[in-house]
Amino acid sequence: MIKKYRKVYKNETNQWFKEHTNEINQIKKDHNRLQFHIMPDIGWLNDPNGLFEKDGITHIYYQYCPFDTQGTLKLWGHVTTKDFLHYQKQPIALYPDQDMDQHGVYSGSAFIKNDVVHYFYTGNVKYFDKDDYDYILSGRGSNQIHLTSSDGLHFSDKKCLLTTLNYPKNMSNHVRDPKIFEKDNHYYMVLGARDIESKGCILMYESNDLEHWNYYTTFSTKQTFGYMWECPDMFELDGKLVLLSCPQGVNQQGFDYANIHQTTSMFLDADFKEKSFNILSIHQLDRGFDFYAQQTYLDEKGRRIMIGWMGIPDADYTNPTTDNGWQHALTLARELKIKNGKLIQLPLVEYEQLRISNYSLSSDYFNKESFSFNVYEMKVHLIQVNSLTLILRKDVQLFYNNHILTLDISLAGSGRTTRSIELNNLNDLHIFSDTTSLEIFVNNGEEVFTTRIYCKSNGILSCNGEFKECLIDLYELKGFIYEETL
Ligand code: FRU
Repeated sequence: MIKKYRKVYKNETNQWFKEHTNEINQIKKDHNRLQFHIMPDIGWLNDPNGLFEKDGITHIYYQYCPFDTQGTLKLWGHVTTKDFLHYQKQPIALYPDQDMDQHGVYSGSAFIKNDVVHYFYTGNVKYFDKDDYDYILSGRGSNQIHLTSSDGLHFSDKKCLLTTLNYPKNMSNHVRDPKIFEKDNHYYMVLGARDIESKGCILMYESNDLEHWNYYTTFSTKQTFGYMWECPDMFELDGKLVLLSCPQGVNQQGFDYANIHQTTSMFLDADFKEKSFNILSIHQLDRGFDFYAQQTYLDEKGRRIMIGWMGIPDADYTNPTTDNGWQHALTLARELKIKNGKLIQLPLVEYEQLRISNYSLSSDYFNKESFSFNVYEMKVHLIQVNSLTLILRKDVQLFYNNHILTLDISLAGSGRTTRSIELNNLNDLHIFSDTTSLEIFVNNGEEVFTTRIYCKSNGILSCNGEFKECLIDLYELKGFIYEETL
């Protein structure tokens, strides 16, 4: 057993994996395993990290704790893909093996410059020399660490760039998750932070060479919007400056901010010379129960691609897969675009390769067919809808009435019930259903519901309601293909 708080090294972890081959083989047989999502072989997974594409290979790292299902100690797991259908499991990329990251190789990102991959992440350190640390204002080191690679597989030594002592005096010990934004040949490191008054904010550092960083500015909303902003990501998209982040501790308002922690997109008005950043708008990035810690990267085709964690920290329910030795997964990769002034999310077109059969039917014929798949993609094209009830599984339905769209997973949510959103109209649904997950893109990606579900049986799919027209494209899907390289 690897103990909770001490450094962990590559050799002993390899040995640990050898000793747990039986458990890993058992987990492969769990009926809850997903078919086309990235999951841990054993233990716990959370945030996607260090995303980039280089020489046609997409690298996806993630927060990984193979040793237990509660994620007590974080390493960086790693998979690669050339086409989003075939995947290679790569050796664990980063271990908490230095003083500066000994209690967790926390989240971070990748940035490619002159063919070199630069990684930035937070090394988490907890001090145990005194009894009265609260680990918020005292007792925690949040070190921003840099390392490089030419291929995403072999890494330089880790170098500490910033420690807790470097942050402004009004910051708590919670400063983490660096992401790099380049503008006018200058680099900005964007960090999520909690100040000493428990106001969530963004801390920015600047650099000319990616190695030496100086304090640049701090910004936030005028009114406090949560006590901590995790996993920030700043980028330009179609002329807009966008900030994605995960504010923690925002109170529920109507249907909004119903989960314990949030993910939001903000449009910014910024003057980099004047160091002024105004938040123009805030939009909830996902409407389901399980979406958090999103990260984006620019792929070699110039697409802004986002992957999230299909889970949430401090969730007030027990994921049934923990009994079987694993929990959590990453979401599908989604392309981000700006349409009609809104940030929209679209599943990558590459996922069309997962389709193995196709049915195109009006809702009447659809209902007569008694389809009972649970691994499928469904597109629903609607004209003039007053109401709609879509049965997605025996125990899961999506219904629309009085301009409110509700996902009801009460019978399959392990204690979770419904999530809703108000819409002006409903004209399009694009649904990806995996064995124990749903990703529902609404109105061409203007809203998304991402959630895990745990149904006892498949059930018959159906679609009923009051509308002028309802056409359904249903595709049965196959799973990802893994080529083991370990
Ligand atoms: C978000 C987060 C990050 C942190 C990481 C630790 O889920 O809390 O802020 O770096 O997870 O695993």
